[in-house]
Amino acid sequence: MTSIHAFWLAGRQTTGETTLDVHSPWDGRLVARAAVPTDAQVEEAVAAAYAVRDEFAATPAHARAAALDHVSRRLVERTEEIAQLISAENGKPIKWARGEVGRAVSVFRFAAEEARRFNGGEAQRLDTDAGGQGRLALTRRFPKGVVLGIAPFNFPLNLCAHKIAPAIAVGAPIILKPAPATPLSGLILGELLAETELPAGSWSILPVANGKMPALVQDERMPVISFTGSDKVGYAIMDSVPRKHCTLELGGNGAAVVLGDFSSDEDLDWAASRIATFSNYQGGQSCISVQRVIADASVYDGLVSRVVKAVEAQVTGDPSDPATEVGPLVNEEAAKRVESWVDEAVAAGAKLLTGGKRDGATYAPTVLADVPADVTIACEEVFGPVLTLKKVDGEAEAFAAVNDSKYGLQAGVFTHDLQTAFRAHRALEVGGVVIGDAPSYRADQMPYGGVKQSGVGREGVRFAMDDYTYERVMVLTGLAL
Ligand code: SIN
Repeated sequence: MTSIHAFWLAGRQTTGETTLDVHSPWDGRLVARAAVPTDAQVEEAVAAAYAVRDEFAATPAHARAAALDHVSRRLVERTEEIAQLISAENGKPIKWARGEVGRAVSVFRFAAEEARRFNGGEAQRLDTDAGGQGRLALTRRFPKGVVLGIAPFNFPLNLCAHKIAPAIAVGAPIILKPAPATPLSGLILGELLAETELPAGSWSILPVANGKMPALVQDERMPVISFTGSDKVGYAIMDSVPRKHCTLELGGNGAAVVLGDFSSDEDLDWAASRIATFSNYQGGQSCISVQRVIADASVYDGLVSRVVKAVEAQVTGDPSDPATEVGPLVNEEAAKRVESWVDEAVAAGAKLLTGGKRDGATYAPTVLADVPADVTIACEEVFGPVLTLKKVDGEAEAFAAVNDSKYGLQAGVFTHDLQTAFRAHRALEVGGVVIGDAPSYRADQMPYGGVKQSGVGREGVRFAMDDYTYERVMVLTGLAL
């Protein structure tokens, strides 16, 4: 019999009246059913979160840190089981799924560490002007209130971790909604949180149906919304609640720039292998996967032949096979969309250097060159295993090509030159510049987020903690400073 995964209502494991089927994108088998909360249960969770907000904000740092450390340790202990679950519900190759669990271990560990040092308070003397004689300002950060976290399917564990862990670290209650396609990994976090002493109501994990979200987004008891997903949905949320604090982690069409000084055989082998790997990991379903390769004319030909070879060497197939590097997309509809974008580009004159084939939900790693500027794949986030190649003349043209996009999440620049690195850091309109590697590098403690249509706000544990809190100053008077 197929198991039913209960949801977590104010820290309690509960079922509702309906369930949601979770299918493997690889072979369509039913992986499990997730219980779906009723409207009344969602209301109960929100009311509990709201009611506990002051108590939770006042919880001592050691208690929050201990809970976060506990989750981190338990993730280590249950790594294999959780990785199998991620792979089953998401179609992510098992080797990448194991990596994702490892990252979530770090996220909770970082959150525990940050919880211990956050909010020590900053003192500022005010007697710099006569009117402030004997006065001192003490600034501390306090939670803005209950966080509504909305997570995507592509990192079903770690992007839930990125919403929950910072909330616990600052003492902000959170209602987390995992993605409907992949709720099971997020729900597992509930099992680990339930083993802690966190106050009831401080966290709930609810696979709420997407159609119910507009009402929840409007709920004034949750002043903070942390959303990861498409720009269309993200901006619709933000536009619908202009007075709330919204953190939006949206799309990108990550560029990897290979400059003229990165030209030895060893350099080009490295760049090609990183580009091939990170254009295809997660089936390209990462907001920072490599979509655009922008190479200087002097290295272009040498790079292209290597990229095509490295892309063709990507092992595509069954995600449960440890050798597999590229699995299916989240569903067949997603793969058909990618197929239609590639077909459109080819019909408009793009050269298909490899790939371009779909088998159910799996789309073959694909390389396109000479892509016309106005086709969909040149303008939008493909979120699939496809990269485009562009030849440019020099650094300035390369940087302009990176910026010629409505997105601005991360960019990678393959160069050895420190001055070039600093110029890239200054010139590129993105949230992160990675020197000597693909744009897809993310360490979970780094600030992560975009500019332009890639979103607002930052994740990366401490940065999300800043986002979930605000500064409140206390002025002390009559002091002998
Ligand atoms: C994302 O797709 O935005 C997340 C990428 C990552 O965490 O590596």
